[in-house]
Amino acid sequence: MKKICVFASGTGSNFQAIYEAVNNGFLDCEIALLVSDKPKSLAVEKASKYGIDTFTFVPKNYVTKTEYEQVILDELQKRDVELIVLAGYMRLIGSTLLKEYRKKILNIHPSLLPLFKGKDAVGQAMRADVLKTGVTVHYVDEGMDTGEIIDQEELSLNGLNTRGEIENEIHEIEHKLYPKVIRQILEEKR
Ligand code: GRF
Repeated sequence: MKKICVFASGTGSNFQAIYEAVNNGFLDCEIALLVSDKPKSLAVEKASKYGIDTFTFVPKNYVTKTEYEQVILDELQKRDVELIVLAGYMRLIGSTLLKEYRKKILNIHPSLLPLFKGKDAVGQAMRADVLKTGVTVHYVDEGMDTGEIIDQEELSLNGLNTRGEIENEIHEIEHKLYPKVIRQILEEKR
């Protein structure tokens, strides 16, 4: 069975959706590890509760990104991880991981890329007063949300008035779209 690793810094709702998709058989893989740069995050708490291995680190305790990514790489290789899934991991991936996992790292972003890259994509969309936004799943490269797009789903903003309403809808899309794309990648249909 293929092994995947989820990287998460936040509440871990996407991690949870992936976990549930594995648990109910929609995804034929094992979550071998959760990596987080926020040891106290809800994502880490959830992984521990589900009995999934976690590797947490505090970036400022390392001199360079290369140094902590080398430690992460060791953890991944030790477990034969084949696919890395970023789910709210708020750091750029560096060359140490990209060299070994090129086209094997996915990210989910709450906008229709290439629009609204980076932080607070929902706020950016609201300020731009667009009629629609959405969710993108893409491969990760050196840039910030610049990798090749794999799939997108639109969200009409018609009738959605508050940030909370928009974020709820975005999350609902994410929790379906991400498992769907991961499944296609695992089945090599993408
Ligand atoms: C999601 O909106 C995702 O698109 C972005 O970070 C957020 C993570 O949310 N990359 P959660 O921690 O999975 O709830």
